[in-house]
Amino acid sequence: MAPRKIIIDTDPGQDDAVAILLALSSPEEIEVLGITAVAGNVPLELTAKNARIVCELAGRTDIPVYAGCERPLKRPLVTAEHVHGKTGLDGPVLPDPQMPLAEGHGVDFIIETLRAHEPGTVTLCPLGPLTNIATAFQKAPDIIERVQEIVLMGGAYFEVGNITPAAEFNIYVDPEAAEIVFKSGIHIAVMPLDVTHDALVTPHRNDAFRALGSQVGHAVAEMTDFFERFDKEKYGSEGAPLHDPCVTAYLIQPELFSGRHINVEIETQSELTLGMTVADWWGVTDRTPNAMFMGNVDAHGFFTLLTERLARL
Ligand code: BDR
Ligand code: CA
Repeated sequence: MAPRKIIIDTDPGQDDAVAILLALSSPEEIEVLGITAVAGNVPLELTAKNARIVCELAGRTDIPVYAGCERPLKRPLVTAEHVHGKTGLDGPVLPDPQMPLAEGHGVDFIIETLRAHEPGTVTLCPLGPLTNIATAFQKAPDIIERVQEIVLMGGAYFEVGNITPAAEFNIYVDPEAAEIVFKSGIHIAVMPLDVTHDALVTPHRNDAFRALGSQVGHAVAEMTDFFERFDKEKYGSEGAPLHDPCVTAYLIQPELFSGRHINVEIETQSELTLGMTVADWWGVTDRTPNAMFMGNVDAHGFFTLLTERLARL
């Protein structure tokens, strides 16, 4: 089967970085058409830089990296340096990127790429706030029916919130954008915290990255070493949750994940629960299902896949 064509929309972020590395190490299954950076974990200037650092780490300077939106649709930007560090990619010491940003705006790249490909052949993979994707849909509604699928990291049901008691970070930062995406009618697969909090880098799993003996293996181990302190302190968990790599792992081995096709609405009004993903997991409404909301991951299978693929870089 031909590899699946994707655009990665991202705010790196250590876990975004690992998601990108997993995609770039899997050319049989995934063809990365381009990467669009968005403001999220850190401001746009840094996410656009970090995305290029990651491409260079993978030896893939041929991947076009575009800068997208620098702030959410209607709100001031909220960032997460408390999790990811000042650079967004704290942990390993990696050189500044030599590759330039691709010319043009990330949103226009998304629009033009969807228009240039056969309808139903390009998948969008958002790993950060949904600002670029929603802006593209607002600017060019004709592209909506051309999207094959959206596979995104965001939201939570059983785990509720990580940035507020009610909301997960990616959705909270730009709830209006999330609402546009969830109401788009496109088939959406969602990797919420309910799944990603099970994709934990235990010390044993991190040793396996380090034991790859490569620059990539070391960099990933150092990223997760840094990133884990937050979750250890907050949740008492064993290590860092690899949120965003669940998206790219799903494209390679969907059978690692299971969930329910349900209705998910985004709270955009309430100050208290802003950005909450109101997921009808128990089917208590007659609202139309709009998302495949994952609930379980085979964590062992996930880390086996990830380690095996990172070894290729
Ligand atoms: C999400 O927020 C960011 O901090 C991570 O990169 C991930 O995309 C988890 O809530
Ligand atoms: Ca992210």
